[in-house]
Amino acid sequence: MRSHELIDTARALVANGKGLLAMDESNPTCNKRFARLDIPQTEAARRAYRELLVTTPGLGECVSGAIPYDETIHQRTTAGAPFVQVLVGAGIIPGIKVDTGAKGLAGHPGETITEGLDGLRDRLAEYARMGARFAKWRAVIALGAGLPTRGCVGANAHALARYAALCQEAGLVPVVEPEVLMGGAHTLGRCREVTEDVLRTVVHQLDRQGVMLEGVILKPNMVLPGSTCPDQDGVEAVADATLHCLLRTVPAAVPGVAFLSGGQSAELASARLNAMTVRFRSPPWAVAFSFARAIQQPALDIWLGRDANVIAAQRALLHRARCNRAARRGDYTA
Ligand code: 13P
Repeated sequence: MRSHELIDTARALVANGKGLLAMDESNPTCNKRFARLDIPQTEAARRAYRELLVTTPGLGECVSGAIPYDETIHQRTTAGAPFVQVLVGAGIIPGIKVDTGAKGLAGHPGETITEGLDGLRDRLAEYARMGARFAKWRAVIALGAGLPTRGCVGANAHALARYAALCQEAGLVPVVEPEVLMGGAHTLGRCREVTEDVLRTVVHQLDRQGVMLEGVILKPNMVLPGSTCPDQDGVEAVADATLHCLLRTVPAAVPGVAFLSGGQSAELASARLNAMTVRFRSPPWAVAFSFARAIQQPALDIWLGRDANVIAAQRALLHRARCNRAARRGDYTA
């Protein structure tokens, strides 16, 4: 029974050309993005911003699931409705980010391990009671001279698999996010090599921990040249490198791959997703999106913390959501 529920939820998260809205920035990350735009870094401002996101009219046409942060899942609209209830009312499946962040990995300078396993079983049970049906955990892999190390890739893959097994035990679909960072001067080829190794290691660990792949969503990075690499490959080359990498590593049993945006512009993220759809007509899994910055940033730039800008900001969010749904059909035009 539980397996069927997990499979149904996982499939629903990537069905009908929709994707996920990641709105799970931790308070420090959210505050950093607010500070850049002179928005007050307060709980009230974070609540108002998240209310703007979840009450965007029409969002459910393009967004299947939304991922709040712990603070947000406990918050309500000005009118008093819990955000989870608003999402469900809009036809959007509520999720929750459950890792507690990437911390320095002992003995591995420049690398991190994502924490949050201690007490996770109890936290998952509580989030499930609050209405969450899926969860997210992000592992971070940096590229650089001698990086990543096997120690870092192995430890993060193991933690992702333990998290995923606990999620399924609690009836929540794990969104498994191993992010190979875009920062650096590395080439597209180097990113592909590392992403391939990371995904292979993660899939192996998921198997070791008895995770049912049919009830998982994978949230990988696109295969990209480093942000300071002098050779910035075109959209088609990125699409080909990404899909070839995934075809070699991600089993067909996984129902969906929903990309993170990782600091790409909103337009490039959509264009690259579109190129994947156009160039690979029938991959074994759904190819979807789970963006934070590439779907939210235009809206945040318009809102600026002002009530008068809410409607325009919601229009900008809906526009990006529609763009990404169009990209899933291969119909995106910049
Ligand atoms: P970005 O799309 O901004 O990379 O965020 C995705 C995410 O959920 C990071 O954990």
